[in-house]
Amino acid sequence: MRRTILTALTCFAAVAIVAGCGSQGVTSPAPRTIIGSVPKPTLEPATAAFKLKGDPVAGKALFLKSGCTGCHTLADAHATGTVGPNLDQAKPDYRLATARVTLGKGAMPSFKSQGLSDQQIADVASYVVKATGGQP
Ligand code: HEC
Repeated sequence: MRRTILTALTCFAAVAIVAGCGSQGVTSPAPRTIIGSVPKPTLEPATAAFKLKGDPVAGKALFLKSGCTGCHTLADAHATGTVGPNLDQAKPDYRLATARVTLGKGAMPSFKSQGLSDQQIADVASYVVKATGGQP
């Protein structure tokens, strides 16, 4: 009687080990695939201003009078705001700059809604890009 129980337990253990090994072999590739997938960086929307060529000289005047200096640090404009990113460090490209100024984001208002034309947005964006060493 005792022997029968022991045999039964041994059989059960053996089955469990085999099943364990089998399932591990089947499931292991799935998580590896999920870990390997990298999220794609999202591109900023191409706004109307992005398609225009901005004038950085006109843009500097706009930067100074539109309130950008209150929120951003930009050495070229002697701006020391700290609400938004430090533009000298962020070095935004033209696409990002035109998208942010046109549409706004978070604490930054949309300057299109504040009355800037697409050309003025292109101007101020090209100024920011140029003043931080980029190619407008
Ligand atoms: C009320 C404060 C405020 C004002 C005014 C403001 N900004 Fe911003 N700006 C922000 C904040 C906050 C962000 C970050 C938005 C986010 O990514 O969540 C930002 C982001 C940006 C970025 C993108 C930086 C990056 O690398 O993510 C640019 C370029 C920019 N602003 C330019 C301007 C210009 C040009 C003006 C003036 C026309 C301006 N901002 C006015 C607050 C402001």
